[in-house]
Amino acid sequence: MEFILSRVNIVKLKADVLVIGIFKGQRYSGAVKSINDSLGNALKNISEEERFEGDLGKSLMLSRTLGKIGSKRVLMVGLGEKTEFSTNTLRKIGTLVTNKVKGLSSIIAFSSELFRGPGHISALTEGLLLGSYEFNKYKTNNSEGNEIEKVIFASKQVKAFTLKEETDFARLISESTNLARDLVNEPPVYLTPRKLAEVASQIAKDGGLNCEIFDYAEIERRGMNGLMAVSSGSEEPPRFIHLTYEPPRKSRRSIAIVGKGITFDSGGLCLKPPDSMRTMKMDMGGSAVVLGVMKAIAVLQPSVRVHGLIAASENMTGAKAYKPDDVIRAYNGKTIEVINTDAEGRIVLSDALCYAVELKVDEIVDLATLTGACMVGLGSYTAGVMGNNQTLIDKIRKASDSVGEKTWQLPMDDELRVEIKSNVADIKNAGSRMGGAITAAMFLENFVGDVPWAHIDIAGPAFLEKGSDWSPKGATGFGVRTIIQYITGK
Ligand code: BES
Ligand code: MG
Ligand code: ZN
Repeated sequence: MEFILSRVNIVKLKADVLVIGIFKGQRYSGAVKSINDSLGNALKNISEEERFEGDLGKSLMLSRTLGKIGSKRVLMVGLGEKTEFSTNTLRKIGTLVTNKVKGLSSIIAFSSELFRGPGHISALTEGLLLGSYEFNKYKTNNSEGNEIEKVIFASKQVKAFTLKEETDFARLISESTNLARDLVNEPPVYLTPRKLAEVASQIAKDGGLNCEIFDYAEIERRGMNGLMAVSSGSEEPPRFIHLTYEPPRKSRRSIAIVGKGITFDSGGLCLKPPDSMRTMKMDMGGSAVVLGVMKAIAVLQPSVRVHGLIAASENMTGAKAYKPDDVIRAYNGKTIEVINTDAEGRIVLSDALCYAVELKVDEIVDLATLTGACMVGLGSYTAGVMGNNQTLIDKIRKASDSVGEKTWQLPMDDELRVEIKSNVADIKNAGSRMGGAITAAMFLENFVGDVPWAHIDIAGPAFLEKGSDWSPKGATGFGVRTIIQYITGK
């Protein structure tokens, strides 16, 4: 996709599809008015006929312009209420446009009312690039044809360097998100813990990051017993991955981003039923976010040291599999009674969180497809945020709001803590079903010491079987943009 500026009059501008934006109940003015006038009031007429009123998510295509304007078609997109307009609106518009022009056009143009402020071109571009994502590596016939080749921003005001800056940024963010999507969409036979480690070291190499990968022997030597236990039922060896970004000028602030990397979750001996086991290739969604973020951070060069940590393993049922009733001594010496082998994410994360604490970071943020309970509570489109530090939680929530990824805080209710009290060990790895997302977070809390920590349960939004208006089918890359925004934003 190529992005260019054009100062040609909007009426004369030649594109396959000219996109114009209409706020709810808005009267035509400026570019929209001149196009409508040139078309002999056609936009107004079909809007009335089709009851198109500018609602966000609604659009209307005028598919013939009969030579009255330069462009072949006009796509009117609803921008919704003017008072609710933000860059998130534009990101949605970008995605909607890719869906509407699929197969029709290689050249599209955006009319200037769609990009009037800083970040607008970037948001539209991000919407286009994220919206045109497809995972078709395994389809023999994968040419859907006619992709958008050229995107014209029709404006007399925008400067060339602004266009470049904003579209370059959008490209990087989208590539990082799409990388996370690819990793999650890959089948588990391909994306094993070893493969994940290979990808991580390639990202490190490309971005000039430091990379340490612990193999089975090193994991054992270090006493990462949680990761050992969970991987014991699999023929695939586990990996612990540690990428580090060092800022160009020494900085005292440091942060660890920790990802759950279960490349397939069968449930272990507490085997999942078939319907729940399907899609469990997504259980490394947190680790995919870590890699997407590290890729972007290497380019964006924020002035903070960033550690990307991943505990990668399969959760299988082999003869040596860990069992309910087992007791595991975690990295920090605490003992864990295994109640349910399907609550494996929190066990591998315990090692990774302890390791982050040893790095003496100022903050830890973990991302994990951790609990079905979180999806029951919040639905498939919203991630749950928990933690031990309200300031950090607020910052994460603010970052997610600003990039249009939906999050909601769940309470760490002290009365629920009894759920993970064990009779034989310090804690147990599962309580009752009630409040399952929260008790999972309370389990993790045992391994972060007093380091400010936020936990993002992405079980719902990491993977959407059917997709949605704004998200592709399958992996979404949810979390990549929030964390990049959190690390690089003000
Ligand atoms: N990977 C699952 C959580 C999950 C479920 C993610 C659905 C995405 C979609 C996790 O390992 C798991 O199985 N959790 C159990 C915990 C329970 C046994 C305490 C769950 O949520 O049922
Ligand atoms: Mg599980
Ligand atoms: Zn899992």
